Amino acid sequence: MIDFNADHALEIPDELRKRIGMPRESVDVNAQVEAGIAAVQIPRQIEFVADLAAGLPSITCTALDLVVENLLLNAIKAMHDKPGVLSVRTWLDERLPREPFIVVTVKDTGIGMSKDELGRLFEPRQAGHRGGGLGFGMRWVRGWVRRAHGLIGVESEPGSGTTVTIRFQIHAHQTDRLPQGGEPA
Ligand SMILES: Nc1ncnc2c1ncn2[C@@H]1O[C@H](COP(=O)(O)OP(=O)(O)O)[C@@H](O)[C@H]1O
Ligand SMILES: [Mg+2]
Repeated sequence: MIDFNADHALEIPDELRKRIGMPRESVDVNAQVEAGIAAVQIPRQIEFVADLAAGLPSITCTALDLVVENLLLNAIKAMHDKPGVLSVRTWLDERLPREPFIVVTVKDTGIGMSKDELGRLFEPRQAGHRGGGLGFGMRWVRGWVRRAHGLIGVESEPGSGTTVTIRFQIHAHQTDRLPQGGEPA
């Protein structure tokens, strides 16, 4: 059993190292988002909505699945076994036709964060971090998004919930033959 666990423990940094280098391969955004969703067990009392726009261009990112997985785990933790709505959406923002973005949002109706907590969200292991996690998740999430030249924004309201929005700029020519995108209603 010790051997088995030691082997398993040694695989973890290997797996992570693969995700640390600069991303090279182009990945299907929705396939990555779906893999992130599949990695998480969503409690029965939570209404889960996945609204993924078809035909999005691929992007270069090593760990979008882990990004989504981490955000979902945080959202579920913030929802405290209470009923609520958890949604994941992807869409193409073409409001500026020459500056199109792929947008990924994870939105929860959990306890939210105060301004102070929000300000410390990316700092690992701050006092005030709730729950049993190590407190490194959001720092990793931001690292993965930045290495893929993406931007991450977080809006939160204590008592009503949190929305994390990730944007990846793409080239205008990548959207030439795609169906019309837009912000979901
Ligand atoms: N969706 C969310 N709703 C409310 N609080 C959140 C949410 N996501 C993160 N947080 C807060 O930020 C802290 C840090 O998150 P994270 O870096 O993922 O570390 P961990 O999940 O290990 O605590 C969490 O402990 C929690 O207090
Ligand atoms: Mg976390």
